[in-house]
Amino acid sequence: MSMNAATEDKKPSRAPSVFDIPGETGMPLFGHTFTMLKDPMSFGTNMRDKYGDVYRSYTFFRHNVSLHGPDANEFILMDREKNFSSEFGWKPYLGRLFPRGLMLLDFDEHKSHRHIMATAFKTGPMKGYLERLNAEMPKRIAEWGATGSFQFYAAIKKLSLDMATTVFLGLDPDGDNSKINKALTDMVSASMGIVRVPIPGTIMARGVKGRKFMINFLMQEIPKRRGVEQSDIFSQLCNAEDDDGNKFSDQEIVDHMIFLWMAAHDTVTSSVTTLVYELGKNKQWQQKIRDEIRELGLNSDAVPYEKINDLVLTEYAFKESLRKNPPVPATPRMTVRDVEFKGHVIPKDTIIGFSAVATHRDPDVWPEPETFDPMRFSPEGGAKTRHRYAWVPFGGGAHMCVGLHFAYMQMKVIMAHLLPHYDIELPEDYETTFKIMPLIKPVDGLPVTLKARA
Ligand code: HEM
Repeated sequence: MSMNAATEDKKPSRAPSVFDIPGETGMPLFGHTFTMLKDPMSFGTNMRDKYGDVYRSYTFFRHNVSLHGPDANEFILMDREKNFSSEFGWKPYLGRLFPRGLMLLDFDEHKSHRHIMATAFKTGPMKGYLERLNAEMPKRIAEWGATGSFQFYAAIKKLSLDMATTVFLGLDPDGDNSKINKALTDMVSASMGIVRVPIPGTIMARGVKGRKFMINFLMQEIPKRRGVEQSDIFSQLCNAEDDDGNKFSDQEIVDHMIFLWMAAHDTVTSSVTTLVYELGKNKQWQQKIRDEIRELGLNSDAVPYEKINDLVLTEYAFKESLRKNPPVPATPRMTVRDVEFKGHVIPKDTIIGFSAVATHRDPDVWPEPETFDPMRFSPEGGAKTRHRYAWVPFGGGAHMCVGLHFAYMQMKVIMAHLLPHYDIELPEDYETTFKIMPLIKPVDGLPVTLKARA
């Protein structure tokens, strides 16, 4: 029980109920589901104005309790009292297609799996992934350049898929990977759908078929990868071992691989798209990053691992873009006991959550939230003094994103191969709208022109 002694004294004689939390149930049956999906920002702001920073709503056929602000983010993510299950928070959305992925494990079991997986993200393996990114990126960016004007979201999604083929699976991205690509994209699309049952003809049915295909494919490959040194994530997982010699079983490798791929794909796609949008709108920042890349001598084909951390301004710009548009807009959990937060008692087995995008765009937390100002992330811009949980695009605590450094690395390799050679141009006076749920993406696909630099 997480309630302290003082709370215990005041404990009501009846069990806590979700209806003790201020809020409302909304429309019959669907509650707030459609209002929230349509415009999550306005929905959240309205609910907070009416009910405060802890409020109850009804979405996806359940009561939910939303907690808002940096303290709430810290309370949920740090979870010092082991109050919250990530598995049961995410299960309604990811449970069918991504069961037993890292985010769908809890507490001690999660910790032991994470230890093994962490070995695949140490410096040695990361250098191998970088080599693969460096080998493939220039020709793909040159293809974009030759196209001139194109929809950036679709292009980066395709590039992300090709990179996953080589970096995640260790396959030739120019080979015939159409079946694998289809299976993977069907799974990711299905995880975003509202229909959660695999009725024939629905995206969920295609997702379930995709999962079956991937399980067969990966299972057949595992014996070929065990004991073999190869610089892709799949081979690394097949040979990953923690300090006590624990390894993953075949089924665990399959479950983690499928989940990892999903966790990386649309998040990198979304984050690089929003960065390109901001750089297209803020030409001075585009130039600053270009200068930084040049000053580091990164005009040649490969970005050395040792220089990745020197791309400081590039990283500030990415962080600021992730602040304005965090790809994972909201994070769910389920309470595993009655939990008290700021005077509210939330009963056991309640779906709770926080919204990164709501915190990141809250003017009380980030003044002038609409302004793109990467220097917010410099020491003099407040990076050291700000609440540590004011910026949470990668979560935090036990479930903090395992692929965070990989995401930075991939973004930096793309920028280092793109900006020295091209200007990013958007149509004149262009503004796009970003759809927030389930992952942030531009509604119009983001029309971009890459203009070759002399
Ligand atoms: C900009 C890109 C990315 C963003 C914004 C992002 C965001 C997140 C967030 C918010 C979480 C925590 C969710 C929670 O607490 O419930 C998470 C977890 C995770 N991410 Fe990422 N992610 C990104 C890229 C990646 C990449 C590239 C990989 C793999 C290479 C990856 C693998 C994972 C995994 C395995 C977890 C689960 C960690 C755990 O439960 O212990 N992510 N990510």
